[in-house]
Amino acid sequence: MALPPAPGAPAMNFASKPRGLGLRRPSPEPPGAALRLGPLFWPWEKVKVGPLSVSPMGFGTWAWGNQLLWGYQESMDSELQECFNLALRNGINLFDTADSYGTGKLNGQSERLLGKFIREFEGSIKSPDDVVIATKFAAYPWRLTSGQFVSACKSSLERLQLDQLGIGQLHWSTANYAPLQERALWDGLVEMYEKGLVRAVGVSNYGPKQLLKIHSYLASKGVPLSSAQVQFSLLSMGDEQMELKTVCDSLGIRLIAYSPLGLGMLTGKYDASNLPKGPRSVLFRQILPGLESLLSSLRRIAEKKGKTMSQFVVNMCSSEVPTRFLKKTNAMISTQVAINWCICKGTIPIPGVKSIRHVEENLGALGWRLSPAEISELESAAMAAPKKMIQNVFQTA
Ligand SMILES: NC(=O)c1ccc[n+]([C@@H]2O[C@H](COP(=O)([O-])OP(=O)(O)OC[C@H]3O[C@@H](n4cnc5c(N)ncnc54)[C@H](OP(=O)(O)O)[C@@H]3O)[C@@H](O)[C@H]2O)c1
Repeated sequence: MALPPAPGAPAMNFASKPRGLGLRRPSPEPPGAALRLGPLFWPWEKVKVGPLSVSPMGFGTWAWGNQLLWGYQESMDSELQECFNLALRNGINLFDTADSYGTGKLNGQSERLLGKFIREFEGSIKSPDDVVIATKFAAYPWRLTSGQFVSACKSSLERLQLDQLGIGQLHWSTANYAPLQERALWDGLVEMYEKGLVRAVGVSNYGPKQLLKIHSYLASKGVPLSSAQVQFSLLSMGDEQMELKTVCDSLGIRLIAYSPLGLGMLTGKYDASNLPKGPRSVLFRQILPGLESLLSSLRRIAEKKGKTMSQFVVNMCSSEVPTRFLKKTNAMISTQVAINWCICKGTIPIPGVKSIRHVEENLGALGWRLSPAEISELESAAMAAPKKMIQNVFQTA
């Protein structure tokens, strides 16, 4: 059951996708592949990242293969595959990964799983915009030449079973500790782009100053910089993030918000007596006790929005409203509000997901917007929190 179209929204056959994707073996397209759920937002809502059209939210896959921080087990793979299928069928076409994701022997597992899931997807994938994979290349100290970065890109393509990536991103800059390596990274991006291995290039963990430098270097080589990924959330909205956003806007670069849920702290499901397993608990123990006001704002706004949304659906539908949908809109949750805040700030959030429930709930962050008053209430509460997220060690100025 699909939702009624938004007023004035174009009619769109979501299944018709004209161009050929860089897939090596196109998957069969069984007729009538059933949706687990109808679209939970307007799936034609897309934003531009350089030449790409992507959903206003993507999903992050850091956890897919990471035992240490995220407790990954191979037994989770079938649910992860369902997560991927459900997301794609509901219009999410952006998936973030990295060549360093996966701990120990599982290194590269996130890319490998995505490759398998794309291959086995029982639906139509024809256009390059149907699935946009954004992977990141680690600036390992042994990757010293542009050719080594191009090889890294080819290895990612191999694991992903693709001929071309959506976005090839530098995972971090070496400017802080090995500035001489930096040029090789940049030239690597140029070569990948020129060879057609990536449709767009991006960076991650670059601050505003370093972003201006790489943008101008790439521009001198005729390569547009399309995206900048940075930690960005209600727990990570300091001056640097805001300055970066301003620079991105002035250069036409799309900001991708990673850890939009503060590694899970903004979901509201944790507190001092209920911490996640593993190393996250150390960070959560320090930050969570000061988040009471922010978490209660998130909850209150979620409750209010949920009521408004279900009333909207009742008003829109002349016939009977599906109870399943009403239940969903009634039960809007903090997580959706935290993600929606990132969207309202003009970024593309990529919350990490590892269960069907996460995907279903996070899809509910789309199709609506917080009001300016709600945004300012959330930001005031966030600013009052005594401790914020620590910044990535590789983040540059
Ligand atoms: N460029 C970089 O250096 C960099 C760094 C970090 C992340 N990233 C990217 O950004 C993505 C997202 O960031 P992140 O994974 O660090 O953190 P996040 O998105 O802030 O938090 C994700 C975690 O929150 C919990 N969660 C998600 N949806 C939920 C829901 N609906 N209800 C309850 N809990 C929910 C899950 O963990 P639990 O259920 O275990 O609590 C999930 O793994 C990553 O996957 C990765 O692709 C990039």
